[in-house]
Formats: sequence, C-alpha cells, structure tokens
Amino acid sequence: MKKWAVIIMAAGKGKRMRSDLVKVLHPLLGKMMLSYAVELCLEELQPEKVVVIVGHQARKIRDAFPDRRITFVEQQEQLGTGHAVAVTESVLGSFAGTILILSGDTPLITAQTLLEMVQYHQGQGAALTLLTVYREDPTGYGRVIRGAAGTVHRVVEEQDASKREREITEVNTGIYCVEAPFLYQALGTVRSDNAQGEYYLPDIIASARRKKKKVKSFPVADPLEVMGINTRAELAVAEQLLADRVRQQVMTEGVTMQDPASVYIEPSCRIEKDTIIYPNCYLRGKTVIGEGCRIGPQAEISDSRIGDRVQVKFCTMITDSWIDDDAVVGPFSHLRPDSHLGKGAKIGNFVEVKKSRIGPGTKANHLSYIGDAEIGAQVNIGAGTITCNYDGQHKHRTVIEDKVFVGSNTALVAPVKLGAGAVIAAGSTVTKDVPPYALAVGRTRQKSLKKWVVKREKRNKGRQG
Ligand code: UD1
Ligand code: CA
Repeated sequence: MKKWAVIIMAAGKGKRMRSDLVKVLHPLLGKMMLSYAVELCLEELQPEKVVVIVGHQARKIRDAFPDRRITFVEQQEQLGTGHAVAVTESVLGSFAGTILILSGDTPLITAQTLLEMVQYHQGQGAALTLLTVYREDPTGYGRVIRGAAGTVHRVVEEQDASKREREITEVNTGIYCVEAPFLYQALGTVRSDNAQGEYYLPDIIASARRKKKKVKSFPVADPLEVMGINTRAELAVAEQLLADRVRQQVMTEGVTMQDPASVYIEPSCRIEKDTIIYPNCYLRGKTVIGEGCRIGPQAEISDSRIGDRVQVKFCTMITDSWIDDDAVVGPFSHLRPDSHLGKGAKIGNFVEVKKSRIGPGTKANHLSYIGDAEIGAQVNIGAGTITCNYDGQHKHRTVIEDKVFVGSNTALVAPVKLGAGAVIAAGSTVTKDVPPYALAVGRTRQKSLKKWVVKREKRNKGRQG
C-alpha cells in the first residue's frame, strides 16, 4: 500500500445526545466511543499518522487518550466537517498520499472494510473514494446523488435535499479516502451556503469533478457496520450490536452460554474453553476466566483473573481480584479489590473479602468479613467471624497461619496473629496474638445455676400465696 494517514473527526458536541459530556466520550460497552476508532487505527490499521480533530471538551479528550502516537488538532469553532478537516492542514499540509477520514461517532466500522476500501481507492488511482451504504430508512444521512453513468456527482444533506432526493436510499457513511494534497486544495473551495450554514466535507466531491479527478464509491454491505451514533437510542442499538459481536466471538472460542442475550461481556475480557456462563452475568474490564469454569447466574466480575474449574455462584461480585484453580465463590459473596484466593479455597454466602490473601484449601463459608488479612492454607473460618481491621483511624492486618481453626462468631481485633494450628473457641474476642497449636478462649466463662428455674417458680408461688 502507498503512504497513508488517518483523520478522525471528533470536535462536535453531539447536540442530539443532550448531554453535558461530549458525544465521543460516552461509554459504549465499557469503553469510550472514540476508543473504537482510535484502537482500530493504532492496533490494526497502523497508518503513518493518526490525527484526531478535537473541539468540544478538547482537554478532556486529550487526557483520555494519552497515547503519543496520536496527533491532536484543535478546531476552535465547529463550522462543519469540511472546516474540521481543513484544520488538519497544519499537520498534514506537506503529506503526499492517501488520507482516510473517519468519524469518531461511527464505532462499528471494521478494519477489514477500511483496508479493502483503501486498497480499492489506491488500485483505481482515484482522487476521492466515498464509502456508501444502502439503508431501508436513510433518514438523517446525506444522500448519494449519482449521474446517468452511475458516477457519484455529490452528496446532499437531509436538510438541503428535495423531496425526490430524500427518497434515495444510498447514503454517505461519512468515511472517505482522499489524496493529499488534492484534499486541502479542494477544501479551499468549499462554501457554507447551505441549510445549516456549515462547511460540508462531502462538497469536495463537486470540486474533484470540476477538476476532472477520479471519484469512486465503495459499497459496504452491512448498514449496521457504518451506523453513526447521534442519539442515546442509537447508542443503545450500537451497544447491543457490539455486545453480540463479542458474545459470538466468545462462543466461537468454546464458551457455552444458556441465554447469550442476557450476558454482558466487554471486549477486553478473555474466557477460555469449556467454561459455562449462566444468565445475567456481567464480565467487565480486563477479566480473564480460565477453562471449565461455571459462572453465575447473576455474577459480576471486573478486572479479575479467574483460574481453571472455578465456580462463581449466584449473586456474587468480584472486583480486581485473583482466584486460583478449583476455588468456589458464592452464592452471595463479595470479593473487593486486591483479594487473592488460593487453589480450592471456598468463600460462601454473605462473606465479604477485601485486600486479603486466602491460602489454598481455606474455607470461609458463611457470614464473615475478612479485610486486610493474610490467611494460610487449610484454615477454617467459622460462621460470623469478623476481622476488626479498623480502629476508627487506621487499618490493621490480621495474620492467620496454616491450619488454624477459628470458631464461629469470633472477633479478631487487628493487629493480631494466630499461630499455625491454633484453635479459637467460638464466640471469642481475640485481642492478643495466639501461639501456634494453642487453644484461645476469649469470652467470659459460662455459669450454670443449678435448679434456678425450679427455685424461681417456688419464689413466684410464695408471692401469690
Ligand atoms: C455526516 C455527513 C453525512 C453522513 C453522516 C454519516 C457532513 C456534512 N455530513 O453527517 O453526509 O451521511 O455524517 O454518519 O459531513 N465534526 C467535527 N467538526 C465539526 C462538525 C462535525 O469534528 O465542525 C465531527 C463530529 O464530531 C462527528 C463527525 O464530525 O464525529 C460527523 O459530524 P455530525 O455532525 O455527526 O455529521 P452528520 O450530521 O451525522
Ligand atoms: Ca453523525
């Protein structure tokens, strides 16, 4: 392929979103809308230069994309797509080659379509190639006007179109290949005498024709791939389409889903084969799930690493944590950030774990809070055990060595250490370290008053008589 560069237009506010947040930063399947075009360029297309045009909330967009391979250009006033591209002359003015122009609000476009288009454009020796698509309902898009010979003559925006022109169902996708320096020469001739008073980028088609340059069109078959997102309703449609793409991919890779439509998986997740995802699960961020796991129903896992054959049961939430092979979590468990479960560990109902390491084979099956703790292997945490890690000012650590048995309803007042093999009597409040293999009892001794009930009855009778 000849030299080429990409421009992504992202300076508009996105009025139709009715939002305080600029359109291209709205989240779409867990990522900012603009990330789709940017990642496509940086990771797949890899042209010589990637230029992003920003205007509305420019600072915010720049901060969100710190990658140094991106060149930002600021369009101070949003005077239209033609004006936006003209502003890039400051960085591409001396560039000679093909410029692919994309919109930040068309995130479903694939690398394959774009590469085919660039190849077609260069192969034809065209000055301008327009990516077009047929839409059952073309409302809102610019219509493609062709001449008698079928060549593209111009694009007319909805607002400027006659009734007959509006009936045309072939529309402009807003994606173009244009040769530089022709692009910047043509933009110099574009005027804003139209219904919106804007400089329209597609007007460079007329300019190419005047100069007898070759104009081509490249059709894309799937109208969904080039849908522009202008409203929240379109955002929701795009999210569903992208989510379905991810689910199809995940199933192709050997994952079973009972009810795929109910499962939300962000594209950055990875799931290995023979894992089953039950309905209503949310898998977010950089989550990696190993082979043969059973997840859900109704689990939410974010930015976590899950080993092989792990079970994550009903209503469990796992964030920023790491779970080794064969562990079981849930139902109704909550693993907060920085938790690590060793191989075969079990965390059961209504157990919350935070910033703790739990050794292999250790069990905390019911109603516990484990925070800032280091727990060894084969430990039994009885029901209702609480690490009292916070004294109102500071957090303190609890250390529990291998094979400790913690009886039910124990309060471990941190900092505290339970030595290996120790036994803690149920109901204890442990405030001092326990030596290895000791029995610790931290509660008042039970008293039983002999025949107390019988004596009480006698006393009561005496009063009545
Ligand atoms: C545009 C096309 C239309 C096409 C449609 C496809 C024009 C005049 N119309 O219309 O033919 O069918 O896309 O989706 O180009 N932008 C700037 N600066 C500006 C104006 C816009 O950077 O001054 C950016 C926007 O942020 C957006 C993109 O350009 O990412 C497209 O702008 P938008 O206003 O959405 O154009 P459409 O009306 O959808
Ligand atoms: Ca648009």
